[in-house]
Amino acid sequence: MKFEVLVTKEELKEKTAQLGKKITEDYKGKDLVLVGVLKGGFIFLSDLAREIDLDLTVDFISVSSYGDSTQSSGVVRIIKDIDSDITGKHVLLVEDLIDTGLTLKYLKELFNTKGCASVKLAAIMDKPDRRKVDLHVDYVGIEIPDEFVVGYGLDYAGKYRNLPEVYVIRET
Ligand code: IMP
Ligand code: MG
Repeated sequence: MKFEVLVTKEELKEKTAQLGKKITEDYKGKDLVLVGVLKGGFIFLSDLAREIDLDLTVDFISVSSYGDSTQSSGVVRIIKDIDSDITGKHVLLVEDLIDTGLTLKYLKELFNTKGCASVKLAAIMDKPDRRKVDLHVDYVGIEIPDEFVVGYGLDYAGKYRNLPEVYVIRET
């Protein structure tokens, strides 16, 4: 297998800083909770949180979608729920990548029933060509083509999440 760089460290850093600045402006004076979607969202959340100049809190939710490893089925299972009270708070769901949009659509609808002041979505990467559902993503970093990618939180069979750049895997 060959790994080809698709998104560099510098691009990831620059986009994350831009999103952090925008989020800082948009949530000034508001009670913000970043909810990282595990496992993939942990790297982006940790970088994004440090680019937001507000007194925010952090929580995590772990989900898995039924189906095989490269196809999202739309049926989302909560493996680990958040453990803080988000009533009246402004929730920003933080994801690594939006593909079909099924996971975030499900999570957005779920959080909309929890009495939050608002629910918005952030993702460092987006594959718009793959979208199966209508979903508005409030903060998007980088649009990428319809290719299977790893690194910066994204895995293949559990591996490569720790790679600092985003790679396309090619069979050789
Ligand atoms: P969605 O529900 O189809 O939007 O995708 C949900 C999740 O599938 C993403 O947040 C990723 O964690 C994972 N995923 C989608 N495309 C890829 C990929 O190219 N590489 C690794 N994981 C992916
Ligand atoms: Mg994910």
